[in-house]
Amino acid sequence: MAGRENPATKYEGHQKHFRGTLVALRLGRGLTLFQADRGRRYQAKNEDYVRLDTQHRAFKERQLGRNFLAPIDEVLNDGSDYRKGVLDIGTGTGIWAREIAAEYPDADVIGLDLSPMQSRKGVPPNCKFVVHDASKGFPFPTGFFEVVHCRLLMSGIRDWRAFIDEAVRVVRPGGLLVMVECDGWRHLNSGTEEEQRALAPGFFKLRDYIIKGLRLRGLDAEAGSTTVPNLLMAHPGLEEFNKVYAPLPMWPWSDDPVLRRVGEHMLVDARELPEACRKLVVDVCDISNDEYNQLVRGWRDDVGKPGVTSLFPVWHNWAFKAE
Ligand SMILES: C[S@@+](CC[C@H](N)C(=O)[O-])C[C@H]1O[C@@H](n2cnc3c(N)ncnc32)[C@H](O)[C@@H]1O
Repeated sequence: MAGRENPATKYEGHQKHFRGTLVALRLGRGLTLFQADRGRRYQAKNEDYVRLDTQHRAFKERQLGRNFLAPIDEVLNDGSDYRKGVLDIGTGTGIWAREIAAEYPDADVIGLDLSPMQSRKGVPPNCKFVVHDASKGFPFPTGFFEVVHCRLLMSGIRDWRAFIDEAVRVVRPGGLLVMVECDGWRHLNSGTEEEQRALAPGFFKLRDYIIKGLRLRGLDAEAGSTTVPNLLMAHPGLEEFNKVYAPLPMWPWSDDPVLRRVGEHMLVDARELPEACRKLVVDVCDISNDEYNQLVRGWRDDVGKPGVTSLFPVWHNWAFKAE
């Protein structure tokens, strides 16, 4: 295949030119570069690996077996014969990046995350992982990637404007920026707010604390519905903006077979979410671990309760970089 340089290879050559806190870069089999990250490295617990990978399956089910709703395929299969570059920011376990690399062997995929939690098994040769704090800019040249993708970064990004400016910078003109983002406002599928709260008090009590924790940390609980789409729509470097609402049932309450299967996967998330959010809440809200345990018990009483039709609100936002 003729061509453009592999973005991963280019990255290796360019990294000395970039500021930032590169921590680890696996350069193929066996070789890992490590630098200090000033203590920011975060090791996810095992349950979080399971939770994120199961959540990925829920997204895929919701997208009818595909890894995206945005026109990523159009960009990667545009008929040109050079290798395309894909960046997945906040890649988590790296499952999306690995699968995209397997689906598009003629593309080179980089997954970037603050935490080195990516699996080392089953990583296709055209997929690399970089450990880096995305709020410090991206260590890549301008126009480096045909597709820049991120999913569920709400609890990691405070300055969405700076994040989006930087994401737009590294997309090639004509390329695609895809931001799949949620709001913190998990809710039920029917009834007034008052009726919903009466039906699932434990669910709402913990949900409200999670929102409070996000806000006290300067995070944006309306990133998916409002902040991200508004910034993308208004960005002078972007065009053909799209926004698709695709909420995920949090457990299998729906009669629709697809939504039911989504709910089966999401049940793992619903059960593990309170532990994943414990630090987020306890460290900043005025609440002890024992009080938090009570909230967790209340939440778990409502998980899967008949008539409680919970939704995790998610929006797929995307736009092309102006040529
Ligand atoms: C909820 S997980 C989503 C993981 C993955 N995108 C997915 O959908 O499976 C959020 C991820 O974003 C990463 N993250 C949060 N803040 C970040 C930052 N400032 N820079 C890079 N990664 C970040 C976290 O380490 C975590 O892996």
